[in-house]
Amino acid sequence: MTAIFPGTFDPITNGHLDIIHRFKRLWPEDKLIIAIAEGENAGKKPIFTTEERLDQARALTAGVRGVEAKAFAGLLVEFARKAGARCIIRGLRNGTDFDYEMEMALINRELAPEIETIFIPAALEHMIISSSAVRQIAGAGGNADWMLPEQIRAELRKKSAKQ
Ligand code: COA
Repeated sequence: MTAIFPGTFDPITNGHLDIIHRFKRLWPEDKLIIAIAEGENAGKKPIFTTEERLDQARALTAGVRGVEAKAFAGLLVEFARKAGARCIIRGLRNGTDFDYEMEMALINRELAPEIETIFIPAALEHMIISSSAVRQIAGAGGNADWMLPEQIRAELRKKSAKQ
């Protein structure tokens, strides 16, 4: 089976990585495509370019068998169909995520009934991690290291210094 883990990943956080590893623990033989939304999505204006986000996802999952990263634009389900994916994986942190994710899952199901959405609950230690918070904190000169893999911490510092 091929599964898609879509998102803006701006930047990819410890929460995202945890979902990737837990998916692989459950389905080690299956392929997981990290699908990185190009440009603006869901009202989010990325600070990292699509190429940078792709490189980050690839570097962080380099040792994980059956995981690859690709960029996509347009409808997620069309990308999923072209990739031959049977399901979409999303992390859930809280009730607010649930409302948003449930709606998105239902819309995607109307568009592509053959593709299922599977939710994986965030780990307790990742419940307040958010890419938006990372961007806000870094933009204001604060320290969001605890939300991020080491490599991303350095890249974020470089990016913040330039802005
Ligand atoms: N632990 C901690 N945080 C987690 C997490 C976990 N396990 N799982 C997700 N998150 C957080 C992220 O940090 C991020 O936080 P933020 O919203 O505060 O920035 C948030 O959950 C989700 O962001 P991300 O995972 O990057 O995804 P997204 O919500 O930006 O992605 C798309 C949305 C791209 C999947 C969606 O807009 C899409 O499918 N677009 C294509 C257009 C389309 O097909 N539309 C039709 C469907 S409505």
